[in-house]
Amino acid sequence: MNLSGMKEKQDNSYPNIDSPAFVLEERKLIRNLQLLEHVRRTAGVEIILALKAVALWPVFPRIRQYLDGATASSLNESLLIHEHMGDLAHVYIPAIKARESEHLAHHAKSIIFNSLGEYDRHFLPFRQFNPSLKFGLRVNPGYSEISTPLYDPAGPGSRLGIHHLDTLPDGISGLHFHALCENNSYTLERVLQSFESRFEKLLPHLEWVNFGGGHLMTEKSYDIPHLIQLLQQFKSRHPHLKVIMEPGSAVVWQTGFLKATVLDVITTPARKFLMLDISFTAHTPDCLEMPYNPVIRGAQYGDNGPNVYMLGGSSCLAGDQLGPYSFDQEMKVGDALILEDMIHYTMVKTTMFNGVQHPDIGMIQEDGTYKLLRNFTFEDYKHRMG
Ligand SMILES: Cc1ncc(COP(=O)(O)O)c(C=O)c1O
Repeated sequence: MNLSGMKEKQDNSYPNIDSPAFVLEERKLIRNLQLLEHVRRTAGVEIILALKAVALWPVFPRIRQYLDGATASSLNESLLIHEHMGDLAHVYIPAIKARESEHLAHHAKSIIFNSLGEYDRHFLPFRQFNPSLKFGLRVNPGYSEISTPLYDPAGPGSRLGIHHLDTLPDGISGLHFHALCENNSYTLERVLQSFESRFEKLLPHLEWVNFGGGHLMTEKSYDIPHLIQLLQQFKSRHPHLKVIMEPGSAVVWQTGFLKATVLDVITTPARKFLMLDISFTAHTPDCLEMPYNPVIRGAQYGDNGPNVYMLGGSSCLAGDQLGPYSFDQEMKVGDALILEDMIHYTMVKTTMFNGVQHPDIGMIQEDGTYKLLRNFTFEDYKHRMG
């Protein structure tokens, strides 16, 4: 089916796409990838995809055309990278299971340890299993600017990374830090100042530094020339160091939506509710955890206006609801809702809690046609438990 005519209109509801569905728009993905490729080439750094944010393997071949590979935080992510990107993964796992080491060693190009204890336990076995592996340590750079504690990986009490390190253990060729979350290059600049002063003595002995993720390069206000200048300056201070960045969100930032449908409209003593065929707790958990209110086409967050509704999720959890939203038009049963920017950290976090139907996963391809990538059945629900 051809949807190209619909792409120009931002107020449509994609009648030919079954609801509910997560829908990636390939042209928008390519636009993001082109920008990341420009940074990679101009600044002379490696950019790899963090699977944590997006593990949609059917588009890995497309992503691999523009980026240098991917990073994994688990054995499963490493296997997915090897199988569908045709590449070995950069791997950082907060605490490694010894029984996974051999398997992991054959699907990784580098292993980053979270602590010196992890290094002591696992370095030699890993090297034995795969002598060509590179090894690094995750460190805490000592600075971050993230106001939501749930998403601050580099606070003073963080368990992620070594806070102080005077010497490099044998076989360690790189350091990794991850201190950003949807931040810009000016925050990165301040993180780098702290990182360089905290680990100054070690930098001459390294081959590479991994600047982690959280660089929101594809957000429209991000200052790309400033980032490139910052990276070039870092490289001129440390010409022997390879620089790696591993964004997740930036790769798929604003590249797709979640389509939902109104199943019922009810009025309670407090509010009107649109009862939907999606669940916020099962399908968009960040909306409740972070919490945040997604942009919805044809509606504004808040209760200014004539058509104000709460959005009711499809599970029985009392708090599975969002809003209020004020819609441009009165809503009725059967109307579609398009929740914007629902690709990063959504599909990777969904559950089948309460047996609620998982949205389809599909893509509006570069040529405008819709391709269903996955739909979910009773068997998917049942086989989670046995
Ligand atoms: C170690 C590491 N690298 C990369 C990322 C990707 O971050 P983002 O999706 O914010 O770019 C994360 C996300 O939390 C992470 O923990």
